[in-house]
Amino acid sequence: MKPTIHIFKDIQELSIAAAELFVDSAAQAIAARGRFLTALSGGGTPKPLYELLAQAPYRNQIEWNKVHAFWGDERCVSPTDPGNNYFQAKQALFDHVPLPVENIHRAASELDPEDAAKEYAHILNNFSEAPFAWPRFDLVLLGMGDDGHTASLFPGSQVQTETPAIAVTANYQDRPARRISLTPLVFNAARRVAFLAVGKSKSETLASILNGVYHPELLPAQRIHPIDGEVLWLVDEAAASKL
Ligand code: 6PG
Repeated sequence: MKPTIHIFKDIQELSIAAAELFVDSAAQAIAARGRFLTALSGGGTPKPLYELLAQAPYRNQIEWNKVHAFWGDERCVSPTDPGNNYFQAKQALFDHVPLPVENIHRAASELDPEDAAKEYAHILNNFSEAPFAWPRFDLVLLGMGDDGHTASLFPGSQVQTETPAIAVTANYQDRPARRISLTPLVFNAARRVAFLAVGKSKSETLASILNGVYHPELLPAQRIHPIDGEVLWLVDEAAASKL
């Protein structure tokens, strides 16, 4: 299925649309399967979305006790470090909504990345849906780096992976380098994936990912193409300027 592209004036409008998508995805999943499994993203782009979900009207439109939150990737620093993806979501969202603590499935980012990845694979297995050994996420939120990375799948990393979660070392901007990432095995089992991307610095890469040649080794975001699910790109006008 081809990705659907939605272009917004700015990050505020994009975040409102993403909040509506989150609410709708949760309602659909809970009506169909009694729970909503979502994988969140790190990076700066989803922060306004998390802040919106923490407030009316969105906060009151979600059955939080049926939501299970995971992460597409995690930076292996303390869970109280501002660079930790769980910590960002906790501060912007979880501290303000009635999501039971047992429904928050963070990676053990305080461990060595290899150990954290193994442990996260076990956590995923507890929510598996046959024939997979991991869940079929109802909504995966992903970002995209200026270099085409997504989650912590970076250019030059192995395209074919056999495990649902891997340890990664990657230097990008001034962010923590030791990470764990879910792999395309998991992302491509999802029912819905939404990429959020803003800013002119992403425009060329976005055009290459969406309209260029298929180069998954160089453009990891191209590795994401669910077997039986949809992909949406929510982007601002600046990021879309070269499409
Ligand atoms: C992370 C991410 C990563 C992020 C992109 C985009 O933990 O670093 O999940 O893949 O989404 O680097 O980051 P921005 O939203 O800050 O541009």
